[in-house]
Amino acid sequence: MAESMQGLKRSHRCTEVSNQNIGETVTVMGWVQRRRNLGALLFADVRDRSGLLQVVFDETNVGSEGFAKAETLRNEFVIAVVGTVQKRAAAVNENLKTGDIELVAEQIRILSESETPPFPIEENSQTKDEVRLKYRYLDLRRPDIQRNMMLRSKIAYLMRDFMAKEGFIEIETPVLCKSTPEGARDYLVPSRVHPGNFYALPQSPQLYKQLLMCSGYDRYFQIAKCFRDEDLRADRQPEFTQADMELSFVDIDDVIDVNERLIQYVFQEAIGVKIPIPLPRMPWQEAMDRFGSDKPDTRFGMELKDVSELVKDCGFGVFTGALANGGSVRGINVKGQGGMPRKKIDKLVEFAKGYGAKGLAYLCVNEDGTYKSSFAKFMTEEELAALVGAMDGAPQDLLLFAADKNKIVWNVLGALRLELAKELNLLNPDQYHFLWITEFPLLEWSDEENRFMAMHHPFTMPMEEDWDKIDSDPGAVRAKAYDIVLNGSELGGGSVRIHQNDIQEKMFEVLGFTKENAHEQFGFLLDAFQYGVPPHAGLAYGVDRMVMHMVHADSIRDVIAFPKVKDASCLMTEAPGVVDAKQLEELRLKIEE
Ligand code: AMO
Ligand code: AMP
Repeated sequence: MAESMQGLKRSHRCTEVSNQNIGETVTVMGWVQRRRNLGALLFADVRDRSGLLQVVFDETNVGSEGFAKAETLRNEFVIAVVGTVQKRAAAVNENLKTGDIELVAEQIRILSESETPPFPIEENSQTKDEVRLKYRYLDLRRPDIQRNMMLRSKIAYLMRDFMAKEGFIEIETPVLCKSTPEGARDYLVPSRVHPGNFYALPQSPQLYKQLLMCSGYDRYFQIAKCFRDEDLRADRQPEFTQADMELSFVDIDDVIDVNERLIQYVFQEAIGVKIPIPLPRMPWQEAMDRFGSDKPDTRFGMELKDVSELVKDCGFGVFTGALANGGSVRGINVKGQGGMPRKKIDKLVEFAKGYGAKGLAYLCVNEDGTYKSSFAKFMTEEELAALVGAMDGAPQDLLLFAADKNKIVWNVLGALRLELAKELNLLNPDQYHFLWITEFPLLEWSDEENRFMAMHHPFTMPMEEDWDKIDSDPGAVRAKAYDIVLNGSELGGGSVRIHQNDIQEKMFEVLGFTKENAHEQFGFLLDAFQYGVPPHAGLAYGVDRMVMHMVHADSIRDVIAFPKVKDASCLMTEAPGVVDAKQLEELRLKIEE
């Protein structure tokens, strides 16, 4: 039977009680973690979000009625206990913060009972994700998730604190919007009042924050929910949280400066990690050439080497063919892995094919100077020696080569590099390698759309020194865009924005917008720009990703209270769900059978 807590007041959270309180009467409330019955003595660990406290029940202290109640306790019952703190009678439990004390119960109330939970509430749960997410409210009781959620809250607080001190104003922007041109698919919300019309949920507050700059707010900040209907991955959810900012009268260095100090502050205060600043910066081209990725993990080497020049006249058709097609041949050196069994190498080849490779060529110098290779027979001894030399290859190294269009070669070797680092345990989660990637291409050719697309978004400022190439060689124009990368993950990104009409119009033209459809989509922004617009720039972090890195989680699901699964559904609420015929009618919507 559930009792009321009337007349009782919690005095401490479980682990706020310590050996300083020995002899004192305290009141704790929480969930029964487990109960042990030793006949005349009964122990229960009580859990709240701070941790565990051992409670001892004996008839002398708690009375016969209290003891009888204690005997009915089962896991996850919610109880209140009034008692006296004493030094633990048995051996100290080193694993518990409160391991040297216990609470001798004098009063117990059962505030609510519990069914047997579908899985044990414990750290590092082995229970399947599907079960945990169906009962997320129980999963959220687990200490590791609770720590994640508390750290997340702290991070948000620290960011707000820092930004406020730096003169940023927090302004909320709408959730019911017109679609923003961020590139992902929008979530749409039908309008009842305007049948056939839809709001879009914001992919980011991008346009609003630029408008706020036009309105003179000069430094804006927001922790904002964003929505993108894209394929889910370990670091992607359909709704996620950005720490979003925009600044007026600034250039790249100003944005980078304030953000480096923000990162330093948050990492120091949240997890006690010192991040040395300034952070390294690397142009996009260099990142691709060295790491095959625009979000390189720089915690380990295994860098890509371009050997195109060396193999351009060799006898291996795969290499020369790729070069003739305008591609390149690049390789990585997996140090000391030359002895890798053939089966494992074949697996790497399959892995590479998953990233678009037609194959993967390998070469290993044996101790006796002979080669183990998929292509050595097509090359002369001199060519092979030169290739090994260019790759800094030593006997027993495994050299892997991909030959194809640059984009594929980067993609394949970039992914292989990461996969091998994981396999070979080269990734230290306690290292935080930040870097800025700068000088992104402004535009990216889309075969699908048969036109150039904005790599970041259409409002990103081109680099002044490249602007004269916008007609002759648009692909070569670089942007004033920057990403902040942490351990191989894109933590945030931003850019300096275009504030000049002529450049913006030219951008729309290059992107294939007519004047009319540019106006249709972003008319309000273009109009606002007619009334005095300050030069401005900004950036947004993925907050979920930041927390994920700090707690070493494998997925952002572990740092989001109520996440969605791969097919974008919520296993707990079963959203999305069908709606009443009446609701559809009001919206004048019909579902096609
Ligand atoms: P961008 O699209 O790069 O930039 O997004 C900024 C950051 O948000 C995070 N992020 C995500 N996190 C979880 N799930 C997702 N589906 C997801 N998508 C993005 C990433 C990313 O770096 N308006 C611009 C910013 C600007 O220019 O100021 C923007 O949204 O960590
Ligand atoms: P093949 O001549 O297709 O049998 O390929 C000979 C070797 O080259 C095999 O080890 C293939 O995996 C490899 N290979 C094929 N295509 C490529 C490519 N585009 N880049 C690198 N290696 C490749």
